[in-house]
Amino acid sequence: MEKKAELYAGKAKSVYATDEDDKLILRFRNDTSAFDGEKMEQLERKGMVNNKFNAFIMRKLEEAGVETHQIELLSDEESLVKKLDMIPIECVVRNIATGSIVRRLGVEDGMDLDPPTFEFFLKNDELHDPMVNDYHIRTFGWASEEEVAAMKELTFKVNGILKQLFLDAGMLLVDYKLEFGRYQGRIVLGDEFTPDGCRLWDKDTRNKLDKDRFRQGLGGVVEAYEEVAHRLGVPLE
Ligand code: C5P
Repeated sequence: MEKKAELYAGKAKSVYATDEDDKLILRFRNDTSAFDGEKMEQLERKGMVNNKFNAFIMRKLEEAGVETHQIELLSDEESLVKKLDMIPIECVVRNIATGSIVRRLGVEDGMDLDPPTFEFFLKNDELHDPMVNDYHIRTFGWASEEEVAAMKELTFKVNGILKQLFLDAGMLLVDYKLEFGRYQGRIVLGDEFTPDGCRLWDKDTRNKLDKDRFRQGLGGVVEAYEEVAHRLGVPLE
């Protein structure tokens, strides 16, 4: 597999073309950003940890019947993935209230959400990723009614799989964000699942083991990601 031109550089990952039209290479970088890129730092080892963590989670999801873009790990910081036609929408499921929902709705931080709740956001940094609903997505042509239904169903299916996986390793899956794309007529999970895009709390102490450590300046960011990987049995070396 030959790596060709860089197609796109996001805030934490770069995307490269390959010599096969329907495959891309993702490179997980050490760059870490928060608040739409206002806070930026390089965190040693983060690219490697996230690449391996993501590959592990994507494999677990595939085994449970969720199609993902992940094909294989290529190196410490790179993975080969299917090239999806990405839908510019973020799908968020929340099992516990924290973060933006607390600010928006004034609900109690840390309260259990039963049933878990669901939100769509438009991927648009300039507009600060505004929350949108099913109608906005269809009206403005970001995705069809069937695709909206598939994204919701798959995001909840992931919740069932990963909530238990993390609980078995002593962690609460508080919330997470997924992104999907089209591949050969199917809706497939793209982007990543790492502690950069979810919240994980220790089950007993409720210590934060995710990017909130960076957002809130708590320190020990990569150490926390490594702790999560270690608890799940993700091989890092
Ligand atoms: O900030 P908020 O509480 O809405 O975030 C919900 C979840 O989605 C968190 O796990 C956060 O890390 C993730 N998220 C993300 N990328 C964004 C916005 C939120 O990964 N642009």
